[in-house]
Amino acid sequence: MEVVQVLHMNKGNGDTSYAKNSTVQRKIISFGKTIIEEALLELSSNYDIDSMGIADLGCSTGPNTLSAISQIMDIVRATSGHLRRRVPEFRLFFNDLYSNDFNSLFMLLPAFYKMLKEEKGIGLAPSQCFISGVPGSFYGRLFPSNSLHFVYSFSSLHWLSQVPVGLESYAVKHLNKGKVYISKSSPQSVVNAYSSQFQADFSQFIKSRSQELVPGGRMVLSFLGRKSIDPTTEDGCYQWELLAEALMSLVKEGLIEEDKVASFNAPYYAPCAEELKVEILKEGSFIIDRLEAFEVDWDGGAVADTHNEQGKMMVGERVAKTIRAVVESMLESHFRLGQDTMDVLFSKLAEIVGNHLSKTRTKYINFVISLVRKASHINLEAQPMDVFLF
Ligand SMILES: C[S@@+](CC[C@H](N)C(=O)[O-])C[C@H]1O[C@@H](n2cnc3c(N)ncnc32)[C@H](O)[C@@H]1O
Repeated sequence: MEVVQVLHMNKGNGDTSYAKNSTVQRKIISFGKTIIEEALLELSSNYDIDSMGIADLGCSTGPNTLSAISQIMDIVRATSGHLRRRVPEFRLFFNDLYSNDFNSLFMLLPAFYKMLKEEKGIGLAPSQCFISGVPGSFYGRLFPSNSLHFVYSFSSLHWLSQVPVGLESYAVKHLNKGKVYISKSSPQSVVNAYSSQFQADFSQFIKSRSQELVPGGRMVLSFLGRKSIDPTTEDGCYQWELLAEALMSLVKEGLIEEDKVASFNAPYYAPCAEELKVEILKEGSFIIDRLEAFEVDWDGGAVADTHNEQGKMMVGERVAKTIRAVVESMLESHFRLGQDTMDVLFSKLAEIVGNHLSKTRTKYINFVISLVRKASHINLEAQPMDVFLF
């Protein structure tokens, strides 16, 4: 599976679309707000910027994309007012992979520009806003050197650039049979393949951004991870365990071939804080200003009592829809399931998730990291940070 070609969140505005099923990710954006505020305040205090380059990496489409950038522009406006500076002109770049639904995103822009002008005075001289779409992988260069002041990325960096080497669908031997990600029963070679792929990808990401951000530029990254060094703990992988269980139940019903499950591994990795710090410090161009971890409910914290059948079903369905909006493109490409079988798979997943959450409220762990591009590789020493769990 070519991740770069295949991966996209469910398009459009329908019942299974990402636009309609991304409340967990919206919650995650709200967790990052204070850290973004701090980063932008520091940036604006240190530099008087006329034309601010801002990039959203892994923007997808739907309400989250514009609400995140709108919050950021509000913060920059407030900070400029506070510092008695004029609001800069905004150069906004929305990046995602080639098959992202950029069309739906662009169709939201006329209303967005109107709102900016009427409610915030942006679009009236001197404060203009120039938006561009930038298709391509963030695991490589996307922007000219020294062209960005602020980079952010929400709920995207847990996607790897590819299925780890040795675990591809065409590998001669399937090492992770019956599972789709690291699991308690996975051999050490599977764990090693995932962690090596993460190291290669994350260092490439950091290196690319170090060339694109101006010295002193800021980057806030937020993505799923895990608390423990052990990658098989529930908070790091259990959603995949349950998806594997749903797939295997379709194997039993004769709807999917067992070999197809054996040859599928998700291009995903939930790192722990130590792994992040090692890669950032090794690359050497960034100071870690903040590194925090938050727990996030699988259903985004919606209140439903999972001790009765109806509540269990509701929560299971909500979580399964969130997962479907994100992983359906990959499953479609590998398993070639028709719509009916896909529906069966996700109602099975809803049942399994509902049962699981009625016994254990497993949560996602989400990291937020705030980084500062060093002025020089030599002058500033990166500081190791403790991780705070909220
Ligand atoms: C769950 S969505 C998050 C969207 C949005 N940032 C939010 O918070 O709602 C993850 C996005 O990351 C994108 N993505 C994954 N790998 C990527 C890569 N290598 N380069 C660019 N975008 C990528 C996916 O296509 C997807 O649109």
